[in-house]
Amino acid sequence: MSQVERIGVSLEKDLLATFDGLIARRGYPSRSEAIRDLIRQQISEERLSNPKATAVAAVFLVYNHHATKLMEELAGLQHSHLLQTISSMHIHLDEHDCLEVIVLRGPAGEIKKTAENLISLKGVKLSRINLLTTEAT
Ligand code: NI
Repeated sequence: MSQVERIGVSLEKDLLATFDGLIARRGYPSRSEAIRDLIRQQISEERLSNPKATAVAAVFLVYNHHATKLMEELAGLQHSHLLQTISSMHIHLDEHDCLEVIVLRGPAGEIKKTAENLISLKGVKLSRINLLTTEAT
């Protein structure tokens, strides 16, 4: 861990009160911890603008398991991106629907493209891509 420096931040009273409410709801032990998290989050977001930044993506897909062609295509896409696909998890949600979570790792631009290819497959009902950079701050 690098050396810690103290900084002073000036905030409007209302903004601070709203921020303190957020800190309490989320259970942060201190303002400092909450501010550190926000800063790291913003740095990670900013790094995503670099397509070569090292990143991971969790791709959430909900689909009907009777769509066998879709299941084949999902597997095919993962097999053709072996170096990016580091894990996947399948959950049977109910009689018909399944949730698949596929984790990708690699350059942000490349895994974003793979993730978009996965969620745009015909038969995917709901989807979300969570992408974040993993370079240490
Ligand atoms: Ni299933």
